[in-house]
Amino acid sequence: ADYAKPYRNQFHASARRGWNNDPNGMVYHDGKYHLYFQHNPFGIYWGNMHWGHWESDDLIHWQEKPIALYQKTQRDMMFSGGGFVDFNNSSGLGEDTLFVAFTSTGRGVGGTRGECLAYSKDGGLTFTELPENPIISHMGRDPKIIWYEPEQKWVLTVYNLEECEETKALPMVGTFRDKFANFAYYESTDLRHWKRTGAFTDSDRAALHECPELFELKIENESRWITLGAQGRYFVGQFDGKKFIRESGPHGTMVGPYSSHGAFYAAQTFSDLPDGRRVQIGWVRTQQVYAGKFPGQLVGETLTLPHELQLRRTDEGLRMACVPVEEVKKLRAKEFQCLEECKGELTEVLIEFEEGGLHEMMINGIDASFEGKSARIFTDRTIAEVYANDGLFYQVRERSADSFDSTETVVKNGTIKSLKIYQLKSIWK
Ligand code: FRU
Repeated sequence: ADYAKPYRNQFHASARRGWNNDPNGMVYHDGKYHLYFQHNPFGIYWGNMHWGHWESDDLIHWQEKPIALYQKTQRDMMFSGGGFVDFNNSSGLGEDTLFVAFTSTGRGVGGTRGECLAYSKDGGLTFTELPENPIISHMGRDPKIIWYEPEQKWVLTVYNLEECEETKALPMVGTFRDKFANFAYYESTDLRHWKRTGAFTDSDRAALHECPELFELKIENESRWITLGAQGRYFVGQFDGKKFIRESGPHGTMVGPYSSHGAFYAAQTFSDLPDGRRVQIGWVRTQQVYAGKFPGQLVGETLTLPHELQLRRTDEGLRMACVPVEEVKKLRAKEFQCLEECKGELTEVLIEFEEGGLHEMMINGIDASFEGKSARIFTDRTIAEVYANDGLFYQVRERSADSFDSTETVVKNGTIKSLKIYQLKSIWK
């Protein structure tokens, strides 16, 4: 019944009640996908950060589990971080122990307790903190841990808010240099003792790199490392075991902090997927847009569909593409024959035009315009995801609060070459 409300999205994950922001602790462990999330169980706005928990067998249907991490006090909250499996028992707590990394905010801004690790012995339901916590004490947040095979060690990437060697080269603006655009790296072999190895700085001051990621993507018989921040800005380059080295970037279709168009934020990728895919899910910020317009309506924050990140060779060089995971086909209920049938429905539209350029269109009242020749568009109740141009264009669109009940469905320009339309099912039934 919580999901039956008219403005609740039906095939995008969201908290049954309360508020959610960032996806956290994303990991595959013992046959299950775990997707934790920044959660306020006591209200529909940000605050009281706990870790909520969803579990899935197929990446598509999520079941809400009890809260996994509780805030200690209203000042010491559980902020974002990643999950991983200690496959080789580095910690001494047993092979294949499920871990999450998170930031404990301690006494709030400026006084963080630091980066912490906690492990679970009951399939990700409850967690115990390491006695060494905080494993890193600094100004910063959002740790993500990966295994670095060439040197048989763990690498932690974190959003760094401290002045450091790497930022000193940058000009002073106001009272600091580039506080918001800094990634720092740490290493460990036992998960308990960590040493700082370096940092990487985005010299663009518009950047906000909370929730950083560092991972390797393959293309043919080459590979590149990607450094990615919360706004979806990313860099392509190398990782030398100590720090990221830029070859190109920043890139990305989404720019500007918390932009409300093309808005997804603080995305994270799964660790330890058995097939080696790099699958990402982001936070779609809708609550603040609608709360003023519909006081008392629980519209709810939501997350994107899972999509795979892949490298593509383009005329400009190597770029990252977003492709919905194969599993999204499980959402399909039946095929529709014409776009008109999308009105009032949950849909997936695969459309190809004769010509490239900007194609303006609306599906069930939500803007689905895109650049390129073809697109795949998923329309839920308040958001649409637009994947176009072989995944090189990816945006999340929100239903405009001024035309909330609109079901306008129209292709405004272009000659359609091919069209396939599916009615989709809710994941909550
Ligand atoms: C990103 C973020 C993170 C932080 C969390 C707090 O949206 O600000 O940096 O850990 O949200 O909820």
